[in-house]
Amino acid sequence: MMKKTLKIIFCVVAVLLLIQLIPVDRNNIPVDPAADFVKRTGAPAEVTAVLKRSCYDCHSNETVYPQYAYIAPFSWSVKHHVNKGRKHVNFSQWAAYNKEQKQGILEKTVHVLEDRKMPLPVYISYHEEAALTPADRKMLADYFRSLADSKEK
Ligand code: HEC
Repeated sequence: MMKKTLKIIFCVVAVLLLIQLIPVDRNNIPVDPAADFVKRTGAPAEVTAVLKRSCYDCHSNETVYPQYAYIAPFSWSVKHHVNKGRKHVNFSQWAAYNKEQKQGILEKTVHVLEDRKMPLPVYISYHEEAALTPADRKMLADYFRSLADSKEK
């Protein structure tokens, strides 16, 4: 009985160690500041600050990986969120979107802010500093709405 338990513990530890060997790409794609959303749209400093603090880890090429992002299987989950987030919206590559894509992103951003869907709740539980106050949320939503309503994209 004791022997069997030890065997199971050994197997679990071995698997946990082995999965650390699976490579996770945490390199950021080089950032071109001229192509970035805040630069292109001339975002005010307070909008920029909140966006970078609460959204850029998953929606830009400026991801800052936390310590837990270096330990599998958490690293896989973090990387999955970053990949998926960037696929939907990458503020670092704003210049590469066409007018329709920009319009779509601007409108969706207003929605996710007002519906409190973003930042991802699971992320907030590890990054309290990224939580949006009602005032932050309104400020971002107002800014994105003003861009969505304007002719310039
Ligand atoms: C922890 C990672 C993470 C953070 C932080 C984050 N997002 Fe997201 N975001 C995602 C993922 C993943 C998706 C893809 C949709 C999903 O899985 O819910 C997404 C989707 C979106 C979408 C597209 C929604 C759609 O319907 O297509 C918008 C817009 C968005 N996020 C805006 C934001 C804004 C604005 C912030 C900051 C206030 C933010 N996100 C913070 C991960 C994140």
